[in-house]
Amino acid sequence: MSAVPIPQLHYRRMRASDLAEVARLEKSLYEFPWSLGNFRDSVTAGYDCWVAAHGDAVIGYAILMVALDEAHLLNFAVAPEWQNQGVGRGFLAHMVEVARDAKAQIVYLEVRPSNAAARHLYRKMGFQQIAIRPEYYPAAHGREDALFLGLTL
Ligand SMILES: CC(C)(COP(=O)(O)OP(=O)(O)OC[C@H]1O[C@@H](n2cnc3c(N)ncnc32)[C@H](O)[C@@H]1OP(=O)(O)O)[C@@H](O)C(=O)NCCC(=O)NCCS
Repeated sequence: MSAVPIPQLHYRRMRASDLAEVARLEKSLYEFPWSLGNFRDSVTAGYDCWVAAHGDAVIGYAILMVALDEAHLLNFAVAPEWQNQGVGRGFLAHMVEVARDAKAQIVYLEVRPSNAAARHLYRKMGFQQIAIRPEYYPAAHGREDALFLGLTL
């Protein structure tokens, strides 16, 4: 769908006061969610932790780790009721700009082969498959491979 601008949508750095809501969203989105502690550790470690907000409501979050000239998108999600409205596309474009501002030359990420929506979005944004990481993710039965993607900046 073509993304219609959403009034009041903005991006800001994740705050300690966002952690409970981010962890709640994460739990509603993933079968194997990060814990609140994982998000807190990411903030403490100085990763680029951002939220997409609509007014006061957190509707998406992203964790980007930059090391030297490489960025790695460790987590990226949009709240279920806000999906398929272009929020992910705009927020991902913002995170790519965050990586560029940090002087990264490439953004890496992993995605499950079964995650059709995310794969579609990443392909549309120009990410290309670099490798397959066998049995990377926990799954209901055994483990699932990850597709390892990269976007050269
Ligand atoms: C992946 C995710 C962040 C996308 O966010 P979003 O706000 O829905 O993204 P957008 O609305 O900008 O774009 C979604 C695109 O996927 C497409 N899409 C949705 N469901 C799809 C499906 N089952 N198969 C293929 N494409 C699909 C939409 O049509 C849209 O593409 P279009 O703009 O060409 O029409 C969101 O689905 C999400 O949070 N998922 C759960 C967490 C997750 O999997 N994160 C990624 C981990 S790697």
